[in-house]
Amino acid sequence: MIRTRIAGIGKYLPGRVVRNDDLQTVMDTSDEWIQERTGIQERRYGTKHQETTTTMAAQAARIAIERAGITPEDIDFILFATLSPDYYFPGCGVLLQRELGITKTSVGAMDIRNQCTGFVYGLATGDQFIRSGMYRNILLVGAEMHSMGLDFTTRGRNVTVIFGDGAGAVVLQPTEEPGKGILANRLHSDGTHAEKLAFINPGAHGGYHNKYLDEPVDYGYGNETYGGIFLTDKMMEEAMTFPYMDGPFVFKMAVQKFPEVIQEVLGEAGVTAADLGMLIPHQANLRISQFVQRTLRLRDDQVWNNIQKYGNTTAASVPIALCEALEAGAIRDGDLVCLAAFGSGFTWGANLLRWG
Ligand code: ACO
Repeated sequence: MIRTRIAGIGKYLPGRVVRNDDLQTVMDTSDEWIQERTGIQERRYGTKHQETTTTMAAQAARIAIERAGITPEDIDFILFATLSPDYYFPGCGVLLQRELGITKTSVGAMDIRNQCTGFVYGLATGDQFIRSGMYRNILLVGAEMHSMGLDFTTRGRNVTVIFGDGAGAVVLQPTEEPGKGILANRLHSDGTHAEKLAFINPGAHGGYHNKYLDEPVDYGYGNETYGGIFLTDKMMEEAMTFPYMDGPFVFKMAVQKFPEVIQEVLGEAGVTAADLGMLIPHQANLRISQFVQRTLRLRDDQVWNNIQKYGNTTAASVPIALCEALEAGAIRDGDLVCLAAFGSGFTWGANLLRWG
């Protein structure tokens, strides 16, 4: 029986460390507030004009490719998960192909727009391509350069303090080793609350009085017969071009959906939370992860948390945490590993794999 294994993994965190105290110099916040609510002590920001989501992804990808014992030219499909792409289009998948110097055009490249669950969705997607026999070396990347799109004023503090930049990458390959590889995937979505955690402008919604937003919003589009306006002066003047998050609502949903979907993949594989070697939750907020840990009655050594150092890196958080746990020797051959995420959409999901 063919299953999918992670044959190589890499991560990249940019060098610039931004501590909570540093943010305090540009907005009304405090180290105490941030740590108490989120657990975050510091995060990394990429270097403007030098680094992008794609270049960070390439750094992580090169490590993953080398550890898988292959070369970039051996990659036959690229899956790229991000909410902070270099360009609105084309997606980062093709940019990564170019950055890695993959010249063959038989490689496919696809972007995944699932925010915090991008990597978990990507792993489930890659798994299908491997098991069907269509591809043998898939590069799956989660990368974000959030620092380019945040509001560094007090107005944006509830969102801005949470996010950080970084990238994680894996190479997926088939394995026939009994019991090893990806055992189960579960993916969910509920678009009912799409605007509770969203980056709405600029966008092709065209400024209609969005019935899904709590209040009608005037984006300054005017009444032109033809469109052609994507980003309006009003959006810029009134700083409408930043992410929005209803934090308490997201928190309530996350602590419910994380344990549910983890139990689903465990159940599908006929195991229990006690059997888990390691849970890698999306690093949304330390309080969320602690809640999930308590609900599933997991020991500290069964859950990996690194949000304290890197903040929430959205699509990159799961592969970065998985890579770090492996490098620390906290995951061994044969361990049962669960990856789980919840985020904007809302979407949520989990993968269960037997390491090796
Ligand atoms: N520094 C200081 N004060 C702040 C900050 C800040 N950075 N941000 C918000 N505040 C203030 C608010 O203005 C508000 O003040 P007020 O009472 O005078 O109006 C007060 O703190 C409480 O604001 P809330 O938004 O209600 O803050 P809450 O206590 O809910 O904490 C937080 C905010 C940490 C975001 C919390 O809601 C949370 O953890 N939500 C989960 C969402 C999350 O973790 N998202 C991560 C990204 S999504 C994902 O990955 C799934």
